[in-house]
Amino acid sequence: MFDFKQRVAVVTGAGTGIGEAIVRQLAQAGACVVVNDVNADLATGLCQALRDDGAAAIAVPGDSSDLDVINSMIKAATGEFGRLDFAVANAGITTFGKFIDYPIEDFQRLVDVNLRGTFFLAQSAARAMIAQNAASVDSGATSAGRLVLMSSVTGLQYHPDLAAYAMSKAAIRMLAKSLGAELGAHGITCNAIAPGATSTERTLADEDYEATWRELTPTGRASTPNDIAGTAMFLLSPAAAQITGQTLVVDGGWTCVSPPPTT
Ligand SMILES: NC(=O)c1ccc[n+]([C@@H]2O[C@H](COP(=O)([O-])OP(=O)(O)OC[C@H]3O[C@@H](n4cnc5c(N)ncnc54)[C@H](O)[C@@H]3O)[C@@H](O)[C@H]2O)c1
Repeated sequence: MFDFKQRVAVVTGAGTGIGEAIVRQLAQAGACVVVNDVNADLATGLCQALRDDGAAAIAVPGDSSDLDVINSMIKAATGEFGRLDFAVANAGITTFGKFIDYPIEDFQRLVDVNLRGTFFLAQSAARAMIAQNAASVDSGATSAGRLVLMSSVTGLQYHPDLAAYAMSKAAIRMLAKSLGAELGAHGITCNAIAPGATSTERTLADEDYEATWRELTPTGRASTPNDIAGTAMFLLSPAAAQITGQTLVVDGGWTCVSPPPTT
């Protein structure tokens, strides 16, 4: 469905789950990918598998909230692949806890990964894209640069025991709006995706997860990582050239009714 040959993408938190699905779909569409994950084995293992299939992939393991790691990802894209077209700030952590006794250490870590990592990846990527466009390596509304941030339906509707996470995901929605406005003049678009319940290795650790969300979701199922990755591909594609500052909800209709889980 998408042709991203000659395009270069950076994706954070991409060793498994939604990020892995985005990387796999990008590679399948011909893009060169820089794969980040804090789990080095996951990042390097995925890159090896992609290279075995003929794709171009480089692992940049490390904490996506660390500015040195962020700069290494951008350098890997421009240094090894010659350019940067797409940055997907996917890495995020979900820490459950009652608001009333939520520990400051958990709060700080969550803000670092979900907000600092997202903000500075977008900043570092946008700087590289602007420099690249000024050098006229490639320009035009469909290729001057695309940023995709990962929000959540939890940034739109209440979910029990996720006050700090919800706050961070609502902030990401607003960041997409701000960057849509600020980067528009450079031809760079910035959008967020707000996934609803999505079956990943992490969420499936709860053995009732799929049954719970089958019940609560109008389409009768939780999303798959490929559902979310497909949305990212659309936002990165020429078809979305005039979409910026938006948050696309991908939740099988859950936010139309928003019943919270009871457990
Ligand atoms: N799965 C869902 O139901 C769901 C719903 C809404 C939003 N989201 C968001 O989508 C994104 C991906 O979610 P997921 O469920 O696929 O993630 P996940 O929890 O399965 O983690 C994916 C990967 O991120 C890596 N990671 C964690 N912290 C990192 C860090 N600091 N630096 C680099 N890598 C790191 C992990 O090692 C893991 O390999 C997150 O931002 C999450 O908040 C997920």
